[in-house]
This record gives sequence, C-alpha cells and structure tokens, in this order.
Amino acid sequence: MPDSPRSAPIIEMRGIEKAFGAVQALRSVDLVLYPGEILGLVGDNSAGKSTLMKILTGAYQRDAGEILVAGKPVHFKSPHESRAAGIEMIYQDFALCGNMDVGQNIFLGRWPRRGFFVDRRRMYAEAEGVLKRLKVDVNSVYQKVESLSGGRQQSVAIARAISFEPRVVILDEPTANLSVMATERLLETMLELKRQGVAQIIISHRLVDIFAVGDRVMVLKRGEYVGDRYIGNTDEHEVLEIIVSGTRDQALTADQARNA
Ligand SMILES: Nc1ncnc2c1ncn2[C@@H]1O[C@H](COP(=O)(O)OP(=O)(O)OP(=O)(O)O)[C@@H](O)[C@H]1O
Ligand SMILES: [Mg+2]
Repeated sequence: MPDSPRSAPIIEMRGIEKAFGAVQALRSVDLVLYPGEILGLVGDNSAGKSTLMKILTGAYQRDAGEILVAGKPVHFKSPHESRAAGIEMIYQDFALCGNMDVGQNIFLGRWPRRGFFVDRRRMYAEAEGVLKRLKVDVNSVYQKVESLSGGRQQSVAIARAISFEPRVVILDEPTANLSVMATERLLETMLELKRQGVAQIIISHRLVDIFAVGDRVMVLKRGEYVGDRYIGNTDEHEVLEIIVSGTRDQALTADQARNA
C-alpha cells in the first residue's frame, strides 16, 4: 500500500497530450504515483503506455500538460535529466552490451577510475554490492552479459538502474520474455525495492504479474485514461473489462476515493 493516504505523490502527470503526426498517442492523461507504491499500467497495444512513460523520463517531449516530481514542476529534455531527478526506466530490450561483463554493464559510461586506469576492483566490488542489495544472483560479475539467460540479463539491467539510487523505477514489459522462474525472481526483486521505498510503475500485458505485486492498476485505451483501481478492490476480470470496453470510468477513481 502507499505510505499513508495523506503522503504527497512522488510523481504527478496532468493533462498530458502527445501526437506523432496524425496519430494522437495521448489525450489529456493524468497519472499519480506515491512513494513506495507499485502501479500497474495496462491497456491494449498502442494504448500509449510506453509513450506516457517516455514522456515522464524525457525520452519524448509532451505537446501539453504538466509533470511534477515531489511537487516540483519539471521539463526533462532527456532521460539524463530525469535520472538526475531519481527516475530510471528499464526498457524491454534492456539496452545492455552483450560482449561486456556484468560489472562493466552496471557501471557503463561511468567506470570508476584511479588515475588513468579503470578501478576494476572498486567497480566489481560495487557491482556485487548492488546485486546483493537486490538479492539477485547472477553467478559472477565477471561473466559476459550475452552468456546470461534473459532473466539474469534483466537483473543486470535492474541492477544498473538501481545503482543510480532512484526514487522511481519504470519497467516496460519486464516479464514478456521471462521464464516462470525468472518472472518469480523479478517480482521478488520489485517487492524488495518496494520495501526499500522505491516507487515503481510496471507496464505489462500480464495482469497476473500486476496482481501479484501491484498496489493499484491504471488503464489506458487509445491514448485516454479509462480507469484506475486498487488491486485490493478489484480483480483481473474487472480490469480486463475496463481494458476491452474502455468506457471512461464513472465510478470513484482510486485517487478520488483516497481524498474522499
Ligand atoms: N516514435 C514514434 N513515432 C511515431 N509514432 C509513435 C512513436 N512512438 C509511439 N507511436 C505511436 O503512438 C501510439 C502509442 O504507442 P505506444 O508505443 O505508446 O503504445 P503502447 O501502449 O506502449 O503499446 P504496446 O503494448 O504495443 O507496447 C501508437 O499508435 C504508436 O504507433
Ligand atoms: Mg509499449
């Protein structure tokens, strides 16, 4: 559950609009995320889920709307800027370098140095530390990433994200290509991050995963917000119904209920 009903949101997106040429990808979308909360973001293909998250990280620029992080308005021009504000996104393809090892990947682009040389000892020790914090097991920080299973590559991508000490982590379809075991491990990792106070947004077509770890689920359809439910007050059947029928939610939304 979110911290307490009165805790301030870590993320607020209001009235987000985005068009790609003639395609209106997002229409006046609102999103709220509380510290330590896990929010599932669902909807059919092309509903606008990835676009909304890329706007949050600054990978895409919004046409209209506001974004607040911890109550402050922000205009991220790139994921570099959102990273500095404590927001990390893990993309579906992980964006890792297969021919480099685990430690090198976790600290890609910022290998610790001692004089002219890479401080390998420190890099691998810190990599071990991050993996330990996540309670994931990748066998060895010296192993090449391309030799790891999909699930372990996923762990490396998350470890890299966590090494930036984010307050918010966004996972786009993290379980799409994972085995049952690897999915279990990933969901465990998400719960571990939640215990450490990290807020998370998970995009997934697999409602079962969202129901396993989520606090709340929000539905987009053709670029519009259509519903928002606490996991404890709904079931997969109802959420599927909202995804499919897509009628704008007339019932009390989770946020209205919270403030009522
Ligand atoms: N870079 C882009 N250029 C042009 N159109 C884009 C771009 N990114 C997204 N779109 C369009 O915006 C709409 C929303 O796409 P988006 O990828 O956000 O959907 P999604 O909900 O993530 O779908 P999926 O579940 O298939 O990943 C789609 O019509 C898509 O074609
Ligand atoms: Mg997507």
